[in-house]
Formats: sequence, structure tokens, C-alpha cells
Amino acid sequence: MEQINASVVSNEPLTGEYWLLQVDAPSISAALEPGQFVNIRVSGEHGPFLRRPFSVYRVSSDRTRLQVAYKLVGEGCRLMRDTLRPGTTCDLIGPLGTGYDLPAEARTIALVGRGIGIAALPTLADLAASRGITSHAFLSARTRDNIVGTEIFSHHGGMVFLHSDDQPGGVTMVTDHLLAEASKIDFDAIYVCGSNRLIRAADTLARKLNIPAQSAMEQHMACGFGDCHGCVIEVNLDPAGEKKAYREVCHYGPVFNTWEVVNA
Ligand SMILES: Cc1cc2nc3c(=O)[nH]c(=O)nc-3n(C[C@H](O)[C@H](O)[C@H](O)COP(=O)(O)OP(=O)(O)OC[C@H]3O[C@@H](n4cnc5c(N)ncnc54)[C@H](O)[C@@H]3O)c2cc1C
Ligand code: FES
Repeated sequence: MEQINASVVSNEPLTGEYWLLQVDAPSISAALEPGQFVNIRVSGEHGPFLRRPFSVYRVSSDRTRLQVAYKLVGEGCRLMRDTLRPGTTCDLIGPLGTGYDLPAEARTIALVGRGIGIAALPTLADLAASRGITSHAFLSARTRDNIVGTEIFSHHGGMVFLHSDDQPGGVTMVTDHLLAEASKIDFDAIYVCGSNRLIRAADTLARKLNIPAQSAMEQHMACGFGDCHGCVIEVNLDPAGEKKAYREVCHYGPVFNTWEVVNA
């Protein structure tokens, strides 16, 4: 983990309410594992005081640049859009947290993302492809134009299932597609980032199929590296959920086994 002032290469609209920031960050890009994040300081006239955490969306093939896909949520993200221009620098700390675990023996995996959560998955799809692992993507958002990264997932050759809440039809959530595909495909693991509903669906399926499932969690953060205890959540210490404990999402996560966080 290190703090750097990274040169901004570009900062442009991506799709829907999302923008894409690209910075030069060779040391962080080289060390980054899928699911890890960076903590960005943005400053306007009156703050904000705290850094803002973001998944790394993509790393360039020479591992010198990284991208962050961010949704225009509040003051911090609007300042990112307005102040991080090419030629300026971006103060960021990374790589932070514990990322996804991709078992060496995996052959086929499912990537399940919703909204902002989709941004945590392309680096995992890239790593899987580099190891010859097929990844199928199950992506959803409120509206179709807020589903990011579809071309990244399809580029790797796996199937890409999309669902938006404004879409008519019989499918109520994107995991309906995952349930249908799981009867035809032997998935070795499921990776999620999105809503609690997705985590519950993935965890139920993973238990039924006896395969691992992991989820990246989003939580309000301050330091981002385990010092302030500002991002604590309750987790299960056993799959039955009988014993519980408190864990810092930025340090023990953001990626947890789904059984650790489901109904915790
Ligand atoms: C590990 C991690 C990875 C993330 N990756 C991405 C990403 O790749 N792309 C992306 O667009 N967003 C991501 N987020 C969420 C992002 O950090 C928040 O959207 C951002 O901090 C909002 O800042 P803001 O100043 O624009 O909004 P604020 O004005 O601070 O907040 C606006 C709204 O966002 C909520 N919010 C604020 N901070 C967080 C937070 N840390 N987590 C969840 N909700 C928050 C507030 O409750 C409020 O409703 C991630 C969060 C975490 C913890
Ligand atoms: S944000 Fe400080 S401990 Fe997690």
C-alpha cells in the first residue's frame, strides 16, 4: 500500500451516470489484485474531509495505468468529475483491502454484479481469462445504460446476461439467469458485488452446488486501511451463522465469503 499523486490521463463520461477516470499509477497497478480498491482524496473549497473508496475497474496490459469507473453520487464524485482533468494529479492510496480468491483449479466461474458493484469485476474477468478460465457475467442495474463493462466481459468470450429494473418480462432479477444456467453449466465459483439480495441468491446457490462464493462489500470508509474502525460490519464466523464477530471491511474485505456476510 502506498500514497501517490498519480497523473490524470483522462476523465470522461462512460455510460449512464458513470464516468471513467484513468491515471498513471505503475506501482499500484503492478501490485493490484482483483477486488482490491483505492482511496481517493478529492478537494473542493470546503472539503470533503474524507477520501472516497473505489474499486479498480481495469489495469492496462502493461500494468502502468489504472481506471476507476465512478457513479456521480454526491459531492465527492462531482468534484472528481470537475477537478481531475488530464494534466492534474490525483491523490490516491492503494492497493487496499483483500481481494477475490480465484482457485487455481477453477475452469468456469460466474460473475454477478449490480450497479456500482459491477466495477469490481472486470479485473477478475481479466485474471480469469489470463488463466484460461471461462467467466460468464450476470449484470444488472436500475436502467440499461447504467450497466457498465458489458464489452469487457463479452470480449473474453463468456456469456453476458443483462437485466435492468425497467425491463419488461418474466425475469425479476439477474440471478434468475444464473439459476437457469447453473442447471446446464458446472460453475466452480461465484463472485458477487452488488446488493444484499444478490449475495443471498448467490450464497443459496453456492451452498446447493457446494462451491465457494465471495462478495465484495461496500461500506462507508475513512482511512481505508484498518486504522480508524470506521467501516466495521458484523460477520458470521461459521457457515451456520451461530457465532458472530465484527470486522473492518477495508482490511478483512472488501471481499468476504458470502457465508460470512449473508444475514449477518
Ligand atoms: C470498497 C469500495 C469500493 C467502491 N467502488 C466503487 C466504484 O468502483 N465505483 C463507484 O461509483 N462507487 C464505488 N464505491 C462507492 C463510493 O465510494 C461512493 O459512491 C462514494 O464514496 C460517494 O461519495 P460522494 O462524495 O460522491 O457521495 P456522498 O455525498 O458522500 O454520499 C452520497 C451517498 O452515497 C452514500 N455513500 C457515501 N460513501 C459511501 C461508501 N463508501 N459506500 C457506500 N455508500 C456510500 C451515502 O450514504 C449517500 O447516500 C465503493 C465503495 C467501497 C467501500
Ligand atoms: S476505513 Fe478505517 S478501519 Fe476501515
